[in-house]
Amino acid sequence: VSEYIFDKIDKGLHRLPDHPLGILKAVIENYFTSQHTEKGHFVMFDDLAPVVTTYANFDSVLVPVDHVSRSTNDTYYVTEDTVLRCHTSAHQLELLKNGHRQFLVTGDVYRRDSIDATHFPVFHQVEGVRVFEPHEWESRNISSLELASTELKTTLEGLVRHLFGDCEMRWVDAYFPFTEPSYELEIFFQGEWLEVLGCGVMQSSILDNASLGDRRAWAFGLGLERLAMILFDIPDIRLFWTSDTRFSAQFSAGMFKAGGVGMKKFASYSKYPPCYKDASFWLPDDSSFTENTLCELVRDAAGSLVEEVKLIDEFTNPKLGRTSNCYRFTYRSMERSLTDEEVNKIQEIVRARLESELRVTLR
Ligand code: DAH
Repeated sequence: VSEYIFDKIDKGLHRLPDHPLGILKAVIENYFTSQHTEKGHFVMFDDLAPVVTTYANFDSVLVPVDHVSRSTNDTYYVTEDTVLRCHTSAHQLELLKNGHRQFLVTGDVYRRDSIDATHFPVFHQVEGVRVFEPHEWESRNISSLELASTELKTTLEGLVRHLFGDCEMRWVDAYFPFTEPSYELEIFFQGEWLEVLGCGVMQSSILDNASLGDRRAWAFGLGLERLAMILFDIPDIRLFWTSDTRFSAQFSAGMFKAGGVGMKKFASYSKYPPCYKDASFWLPDDSSFTENTLCELVRDAAGSLVEEVKLIDEFTNPKLGRTSNCYRFTYRSMERSLTDEEVNKIQEIVRARLESELRVTLR
């Protein structure tokens, strides 16, 4: 895990009441605080440590042993058996075991990924879980599955109206290892269908492992950045991390209005000019080169000055059996104009590390 990523661990953007992520988290928590169930209200967690065991991150939520998300290409391993959590679902089992029956977990999650205006290796999720007791479905004369899925749908439709106001919604069948059935909830917003969250009825073996074998539960998870970008009109995910007051001064606790209607949205200050750099190279003969690894290297070298990394050309020389890639790197600061000199310096470091660490041959 690079310095650049480790440095993000104690930022706690979702705990800042005047930060767009903190504002959105509060809006979601308020909705669940207003949901009174016979067990009282939801308990909120927002400072569970992001370094978790591979057991918590994967096994406890039934992620198959051969699932891609377990690879070092997708997940940040701290040691062989600890990772930076790649989802807040990592805390489901532990909290159920600790006796919690309805809760939200908000936290920073980490994924190795490509680089563009909507992808950043650290982002934030809200996880929700609610457990039902046998008498709750028995007294209604319905099956436990029916109770959990009906409650799940009405609760989350209410949440979406709380966030987006009146809008068209649809339920789409999905797959998650930890739920069955599983769904995604989509809304029709500003002319397109948009996925808002994933959810489902919790697999009974998770409840079994928490000694809750006779109960039923629902669970959901949503990403805060994408929703905040839409609701507040924030054009680039890197802005969440800026300390520029032209950004932070535009947000304050309590400013949110459902669907952003009648709310002062983010007014973009003018963009600084981008600087493009291309690099062409032969891939090493083994298949060790991946785009995620390239992006990780560029993030480490350029921090948040890199806006996009894009494959623009690829070809294989049939005689040599070698493949060449050409990547375009877009550098742009959110805060100031970059000088040629500093971009050249970054690009030189990237090129040198491409050769020494990713073992490509520059052309
Ligand atoms: N953990 C999932 C993700 O990161 C999101 C999710 C989906 C959480 C369904 C849930 C759930 O609790 O039931 O993509």
